[in-house]
Amino acid sequence: MAPNNKKYRTKLANASVLVIGGTSGIGYGVAEALIENDVANLYISSSRQSRIDDAVSRLKNTYADATATTNIVGLPAVDLADEASLESNIKALFEAIPSGTELNHIVFTAGDSLGIKPLDDVDMAFFKQCGMVRFFAPFFVAKYGSHRLTPGVGSSITLTTGGVSEKPMPNWTAIAPWMTGLHGMCRGLALELKPIRVNLVSPGAVATELWDASFTDPEAKQAAFDRFGKKMATGAVGRVEDVAETYLYAMKDKNVTGTVLRSDGGSFLL
Ligand SMILES: NC(=O)c1ccc[n+]([C@@H]2O[C@H](COP(=O)([O-])OP(=O)(O)OC[C@H]3O[C@@H](n4cnc5c(N)ncnc54)[C@H](OP(=O)(O)O)[C@@H]3O)[C@@H](O)[C@H]2O)c1
Ligand SMILES: *[C@@H]1O[C@H](CO)[C@@H](O)[C@H](O)[C@H]1NC(C)=O
Ligand SMILES: *[C@@H]1O[C@H](CO)[C@@H](O)[C@H](O)[C@H]1NC(C)=O
Repeated sequence: MAPNNKKYRTKLANASVLVIGGTSGIGYGVAEALIENDVANLYISSSRQSRIDDAVSRLKNTYADATATTNIVGLPAVDLADEASLESNIKALFEAIPSGTELNHIVFTAGDSLGIKPLDDVDMAFFKQCGMVRFFAPFFVAKYGSHRLTPGVGSSITLTTGGVSEKPMPNWTAIAPWMTGLHGMCRGLALELKPIRVNLVSPGAVATELWDASFTDPEAKQAAFDRFGKKMATGAVGRVEDVAETYLYAMKDKNVTGTVLRSDGGSFLL
């Protein structure tokens, strides 16, 4: 038999993958990378139907020659920011994936606008809301999603935290504890769901649409990226196409679980 000389390049071929938060930023980059890795089914989820439809059409346009290999599907919009409907919305999200399709990987990159506020302005409602999409939602995604994953070490869930989970920043006090909590959640889920693998990606500052809410003026946004870059050993904020590799790695290495993977430009060194 001929030796398999494509074993590194074909690890995700024929896989079915769900990207929650796949309509922009890091999640959109992961979606692009999955198509380039020849996955069979790519499911995209977020909270706004127009953004889902737009992301799917951009992906189909960029990868017009891949549509025979990869089935790109936008799921019905699901809001992960509402406490009362969080669990039922996540159930509905998984019910929208055709029964009979077993997933191989779930990637969670959803995040709403950041609750950056001085401590004195934080009340209980605000504090809890800061954790809704980034902390509570991935927990229930693991709870319901694990039943839709093919059993075994080949399957994975990859969650997202950020540098602030380990290195505090002023005015981020209501967000950081949830991001830190994800480190413990990742280890707990990796144990509870074994042999399914669960990992956590921790990006440093990355140039994405996330920052559009904080900097409406493109020049102010660029100035902020330049400032962030000066605090990184690489000298520049991360690019989506680089950070996305971390998620691919978490999916491909059947021996990585319960781990935090940092793609942060060495921001801890400065
Ligand atoms: N960019 C960075 O510098 C950076 C650094 C460290 C950590 N992170 C973390 O990485 C994650 C992804 O960041 P990003 O830069 O890729 O952000 P992004 O470009 O703003 O993408 C966020 C994604 O989350 C979805 N989303 C927002 N609100 C939602 C809701 N209520 N329910 C469901 N989905 C929702 C968005 O789609 P819709 O708006 O259509 O819902 C979008 O697909 C975030 O958790 C962020 O905190 C980012
Ligand atoms: C924290 O937020 C307050 C109020 O928005 C602002 O005046 C202050 O400059 C912020 N601090 C830092 C270090 O960004
Ligand atoms: C993971 O690594 C351990 C220790 O090196 C090894 O015993 C085990 O077989 C590996 N598992 C897989 C699935 O590669």
